[in-house]
Amino acid sequence: MSSQNIYILGIESSCDDTAASIIYNGRILSNVVASQKIHEEYGGVVPELASRAHQQNIVPVVHQALEKAGVTKNQLQGIAFTRGPGLMGSLLVGTSFAKSLAYGLNIPLIDVNHMQGHILAHFIDEDGFEKPPFPFLAMTISGGHTQIVKVDNYFDMTVIGETIDDAVGEAFDKSGKILGLNYPAGPEIDRRAALGNPNAFKFTKPKVDGLNFSFSGFKTAVLYFIQREVKANPNFIEDNLNDICASIQYTIIGILIDKLKLATKQRAINHIAIGGGVSANSGIRQALKNGEQKFGWTTYIPKFEFTTDNAAMIAIVGYLKYLEGNFAEQDVVASARLKI
Ligand code: KG4
Ligand code: ZN
Repeated sequence: MSSQNIYILGIESSCDDTAASIIYNGRILSNVVASQKIHEEYGGVVPELASRAHQQNIVPVVHQALEKAGVTKNQLQGIAFTRGPGLMGSLLVGTSFAKSLAYGLNIPLIDVNHMQGHILAHFIDEDGFEKPPFPFLAMTISGGHTQIVKVDNYFDMTVIGETIDDAVGEAFDKSGKILGLNYPAGPEIDRRAALGNPNAFKFTKPKVDGLNFSFSGFKTAVLYFIQREVKANPNFIEDNLNDICASIQYTIIGILIDKLKLATKQRAINHIAIGGGVSANSGIRQALKNGEQKFGWTTYIPKFEFTTDNAAMIAIVGYLKYLEGNFAEQDVVASARLKI
């Protein structure tokens, strides 16, 4: 992309992962993530605890990223950080750390939109991974987001559909909670779904116009269904766990694929790039692959470590903005509801 030698530090602290990464031109040299275990016992992220853990983690995580990359801080040309969207207390930790470091080193500060990060993670140079051609549709699916974005260029993006309530990862996690599974339940539902019958139980798909999503009604439907069945058979969950997981997963995948079918048709774009923690789901991956034959689209899924919350995706955006000379001022503020 460039003949210059550019080292950028990326910092991510929008939710419950404290992460730092060094990118050298388009290649990732290190990608360190400290995940906060503390939230597991609460069944979800507790904002106050997240922000305190970021404060404890940020210095060692940045140190480790530099060390793993074999780079000293004096070699850095810029510091990129997640400005939003996310939890305010969490964002503030990364934002103030990035500002002070950039100020101390007297190098550019680069603000990054977390959602653009998920999408532009596809542009990290990585052997065996093809980059999507413009224009493409990006679907970001995680515990915090569910969004379809039309991407015309690196920084020319339009949100064309998003959830009006819960994120798809929450649909997995909250259904799992009803079934007594540990948080986050997505990976276990995925594992059990592979052993169960996806047509064992029927859950109606929410009716939402256009390309938007809704998952809160689905979660309630699962709750009522389980309550009703458990009344008749107290062992209903244990007796049918794999089938229940398979049926839940099948319904969720159906919702996502329906919207992708509509989006590709409406926009006449056949390249689909997926990101976010839920893109690890084996059923979704399979359905996307099948769609290549059935619906004629091409799918792009980045390396796993670049799909969940990470700082490599912040570093690549930092690198792309650096090339354009698009920097932030020292008075930039974190923004919990930052839009694409
Ligand atoms: O991107 P991520 O690590 O963090 C954010 O939420 O931003 O995504 C975590 C979400 C959780 O809801 C988790 O249950 C879900 O991704 N997840 C999965 C799978 N792996 C992670 N959901 C379904 N199947 C999986 N294999
Ligand atoms: Zn995210």
